[in-house]
Amino acid sequence: MLDLHSHILPWLDDGSKNMAETLGMVRQLHAAGFKTLIATPHVLEVRDFLSPAEILFTIEKVRKCLAEAEIPVEILPGAEVYIFPDMVKWVRERKLLTLGDKGKYILLELPLLEIPDFTEQVFFELQVLGITPVLAHPERYRSLYDQPERVLDWARKGIILQLDLRSIRGYYGPQARQLAEIMLKSDLSHVLGSDSHRVADSELSYLEGLQSIKEIVGKTRYHELTSLNPQTLLEGNPLPGERNYSLRGLSAKKKKQRFWNLFVNYFSKSELNDI
Ligand SMILES: [Fe+2]
Repeated sequence: MLDLHSHILPWLDDGSKNMAETLGMVRQLHAAGFKTLIATPHVLEVRDFLSPAEILFTIEKVRKCLAEAEIPVEILPGAEVYIFPDMVKWVRERKLLTLGDKGKYILLELPLLEIPDFTEQVFFELQVLGITPVLAHPERYRSLYDQPERVLDWARKGIILQLDLRSIRGYYGPQARQLAEIMLKSDLSHVLGSDSHRVADSELSYLEGLQSIKEIVGKTRYHELTSLNPQTLLEGNPLPGERNYSLRGLSAKKKKQRFWNLFVNYFSKSELNDI
């Protein structure tokens, strides 16, 4: 299995604090069944931003330590980029690492509280450049809790959706758990990530998350989420097959909320058309 999202590199972000912690985290993820981890430290649009060179340099150090400790896990480069309007310019200038450094997919995150207005513009510009956005943990963004149709819309536009595997066990709260369940039931998740920042309290937390996901999506789809799809992304290829996305698993309350969202959207567009 392949973990598409982790903060295992020491010293670079709010993840691992030192090499000992890194080794502990990698051991846990290996015990959960991951043979390959993409290291995706947070990258922000700041003057002293975390450069690809720093990430690659630290990966080499970690690889060396893993070899010495005889932990058979492969570490590949990546980054979790906090969305900003000039992202595409930075990608062109090679200031941001793509997944596996293949130049085809980039992991990005949004603010947890509010989706910025420029989000879809950045998605579009990346796609025009030939780079597919991989959205980190949509189930954790508060403004999406009552708007799963927005996640559906992004999937239809070709955005790859990465689910945090512990969301489904309530690690990020009941609402994130609920949206994770809707996403899994609706086939609105393409890849999984541990999003591990430190050694987990319980060795079992990853395994329990994986088990719950398997129970919801079934064996074949589980294999796609954990192995086939992330491998395809890393090879820089498109995910196979056309999908007809639709929302499933909505509670009565969520269905009602969805109706109102559609209603409000319809009339706000009509008003705009009248201007
Ligand atoms: Fe993360």
